[in-house]
Amino acid sequence: MRTPMVAGNWKMNKGLYETRDLIREMYPVLHAVEGVEVVICPPFVGLGVAKREVEASTIKLGAQNMHWADSGAFTGEISPTMLKELCEYVILGHSERRAMFGETDETVNKKVLAALAHGLKPIVCVGETLEENQSGITAEVVSRQVRADLEGLNQEQAEQVVIAYEPVWAIGTGLAATPEGANAVHKDVIRPILRDMFGETIGDGMRILYGGSVNPGNAAELFGQSDIDGGLIGGASLKAESFIALVKAAM
Ligand code: 13P
Repeated sequence: MRTPMVAGNWKMNKGLYETRDLIREMYPVLHAVEGVEVVICPPFVGLGVAKREVEASTIKLGAQNMHWADSGAFTGEISPTMLKELCEYVILGHSERRAMFGETDETVNKKVLAALAHGLKPIVCVGETLEENQSGITAEVVSRQVRADLEGLNQEQAEQVVIAYEPVWAIGTGLAATPEGANAVHKDVIRPILRDMFGETIGDGMRILYGGSVNPGNAAELFGQSDIDGGLIGGASLKAESFIALVKAAM
């Protein structure tokens, strides 16, 4: 009942022309995919051209971050009202933003609420660090993040949210979580919290993606798990061939 999603987080890669070219490379295979929601998240500067490229297709767009205010004196920031004209999704609380740009569960929660208020669908990232994992506090950390990041949402808003479980130690390392290990966090930690916060029906309907070194070799097994509803992909989303393979693995 949950439509799988494969979302490409391009991070700080690809300028305007490269964005256009990479989409054109993927387009013939991905423009009319059914049964999997395909989302591309280029840097802000590429969203305009990306919108023109995917307009006639089923490919959706997302941004990688957002400020919570509508407008104002926030030099260098981008607002939900601006993004609303360009894309449907917005990645919020990515671990790189938490680690390098001072984002906290409090600011992530503000952004989630602001995105929803403007009709943008948040892809909310959570996940433990290597140290936290090794200390055996993964469940505690992830639970705290999910509860705090989604605080104050009503059921209708929660339905619009996608969670991405991205263990920090698995991001960009080539060392993905095991399918069973990732699924255990999705199924036994995150899903019960969503059910507790928003009721069983909504909690069961919300998608939980896995992210962290997903590649064409491990995707099918990861996506085949009961509570892994697709992936948030970094490195492997930057090449048409591998991104296409990942979308196919989710079909
Ligand atoms: P990699 O797929 O490069 O490990 O990155 C995952 C990620 O951070 C997606 O948001």
